[in-house]
Amino acid sequence: MAILVTGGAGYIGSATVLLLRQAGEQVVVLDNLSKGHRAAVSASVPFYEGDVGDTTLVTRICREHGIEACIHFAAFTDVGESVEKPHEYYSNNVAHSFTLLAALQAAAVRHVVFSSTCATYGEPLHLPIDETHPQSPCNPYGWSKLMLERVLTDYDRAFGLRFVALRYFNAAGALPECGEDHRPETHLIPIVLQTALGQRPQVTVFGNDYDTPDGTPVRDYIHIADLGQAHLKALQYLRTGGGSEMINLGNGNGYSVLEVIETARRVSRREIPAVIAARRAGDAVRLIADAGKAAALLGWQPQFPELQTIIETAWAWHSARPDGYKK
Ligand SMILES: NC(=O)c1ccc[n+]([C@@H]2O[C@H](COP(=O)([O-])OP(=O)(O)OC[C@H]3O[C@@H](n4cnc5c(N)ncnc54)[C@H](O)[C@@H]3O)[C@@H](O)[C@H]2O)c1
Repeated sequence: MAILVTGGAGYIGSATVLLLRQAGEQVVVLDNLSKGHRAAVSASVPFYEGDVGDTTLVTRICREHGIEACIHFAAFTDVGESVEKPHEYYSNNVAHSFTLLAALQAAAVRHVVFSSTCATYGEPLHLPIDETHPQSPCNPYGWSKLMLERVLTDYDRAFGLRFVALRYFNAAGALPECGEDHRPETHLIPIVLQTALGQRPQVTVFGNDYDTPDGTPVRDYIHIADLGQAHLKALQYLRTGGGSEMINLGNGNGYSVLEVIETARRVSRREIPAVIAARRAGDAVRLIADAGKAAALLGWQPQFPELQTIIETAWAWHSARPDGYKK
């Protein structure tokens, strides 16, 4: 029996594959490498370069490897791009996932752990955000994830598929073997560290007149090792008969854009020039998770909640691999 990890060559997927293997799990990766990197997955892991929307391939993988559960990371993830190219996001994140679920169902795979996101909540009405917070996404990316949550809920009712949708806040940090290499990069911490490495002239801070202590937006950063462990616990929860759930994953701590830059300057001991620009449309002021349900239901507690540690691990990876996974 094995676990199918879709998107396992991506940032969070590759770290989770590593942790699953360290925990003694059999893992098979399916990734079309549209965004991921073959080098992010050990050569000893069965790897299929292909699309989750390829029914024939998914069916063959399920049969040949005796797939018992699927961790579904594969998706497009760039919020801004989703506004410009909604078709691509609904097609990849919804339609292809829909095909994947049908193939899994046909292969009698009963357990799915799904990568959802805090972007399904939209602009927060209260903080911290718990799972009962209304969901009103501000962009097609958030909608595409919310739609999959809905599809999974209906599959549970109709076919008894059990799932955990993990709503991550801002994934960050690195393991010695896996780090963040999105192209183009849109996430703050890698952009700040690329600036520290001299690969970018400066960091642009979009707005410093928000209602926060230093005027810049606040986010909840969660280490990819902690995300990976949560997937293991979600699998265990499903295997021991747990019912379908939506669960937040965050630290419950918020850090501002300027705090990230300041911490990165301290950690890297490099200059990191920053310039203030106008606010960007659609940026929430604060996003902070209430992860009490993950603690109560999965027994999950983040081990690396401090921004300093998160940035130290990311800096170790970026400075060791300034060109990311590119040789
Ligand atoms: N990075 C974050 O902060 C964050 C926050 C919330 C949720 N998420 C979710 O977590 C998941 C992983 O995010 P990430 O940051 O690791 O992204 P990533 O782009 O690094 O990884 C996604 C992987 O999926 C693959 N992929 C995409 N479409 C595919 C398809 N149709 N078939 C096969 N493979 C496909 C890509 O090649 C890539 O390797 C995504 O579903 C994302 O929406 C990420």
